[in-house]
Amino acid sequence: MVRSVARVSGVVTPAVWPLFDLQVETPRVELRYATDDDLQALAAFRDGRVVEVGEEPFDGDSSFYMRGPQARWKAITGEWGARSRTSAAWWHLAFAVRADGELVGQQNITAGEFPQVRTVSSFSFLAKPYRGQGLGKEMRAAIIHLAFHGLGALRAESDAFVDNLPSAGISTALGYEPNGTLVATRPSGPALMRRFLLTRERWGVRRRDDIQIDGLAASLPLLGLTETAEPEPGADAAVVEVSGVGEEESET
Ligand SMILES: CC(C)(COP(=O)(O)OP(=O)(O)OC[C@H]1O[C@@H](n2cnc3c(N)ncnc32)[C@H](O)[C@@H]1OP(=O)(O)O)[C@@H](O)C(=O)NCCC(=O)NCCS
Repeated sequence: MVRSVARVSGVVTPAVWPLFDLQVETPRVELRYATDDDLQALAAFRDGRVVEVGEEPFDGDSSFYMRGPQARWKAITGEWGARSRTSAAWWHLAFAVRADGELVGQQNITAGEFPQVRTVSSFSFLAKPYRGQGLGKEMRAAIIHLAFHGLGALRAESDAFVDNLPSAGISTALGYEPNGTLVATRPSGPALMRRFLLTRERWGVRRRDDIQIDGLAASLPLLGLTETAEPEPGADAAVVEVSGVGEEESET
């Protein structure tokens, strides 16, 4: 269903930002490209719902290490900034994640030069009451389905500090392989991160048939993709089925 149409003087015009129609659904979670209302609600998760004092799952000067309005402003302006930079050359897709109709967290994917390198990286968080029930794994499974099946990715990458066992657990459970290490900063100082890589081939072994992507076709040109988001010849022989630009699709 197309939601983002504009009606001016009774004339219906196509969506200016068709990503607002993009959603990915699994039997357990619904990921919808985040609206401003979603981003405001998710910015408010910087109140200890995700990260308590002393916990350091994120690198850099994350808004999760702040409290009060400054934390929420940093969170939402960070998302707005990334949304406004989104183009074929670099894009950032933020999704509000709902389970049983409840807003439980956020799942992002980001890519640079995607049409050429076909690589995405992911970021996510869940509010504490919803953890340990497989929802983190489910939302990552949804986003990599979008990346590999919907967009024709060849590689999905994920990094986690060595003490972030749930994040590493998701990667391992979904077939990612260890891909080296890096050192990144967090409030207590530099710390080691593990890198994980999921190739298209390994994703294909585990790919699910119960994940549905809706509203993608109209966004493909915005992301630098043509109507067939097929990987470069030689990189991977798999054919990615993406329906024609401008059509409504319902893919599984
Ligand atoms: C990372 C996060 C999204 C994981 O969500 P979750 O719903 O708790 O994780 P799941 O229940 O889906 O577990 C995923 C896998 O990790 C494993 N796992 C979870 N916690 C674990 C732990 N403490 N030790 C070892 N394995 C663990 C699970 O067993 C599962 O693997 P399995 O399917 O093989 O059993 C959540 O913990 C979170 O929001 N953390 C704070 C933010 C963060 O760290 N984000 C990621 C960094 S960008």
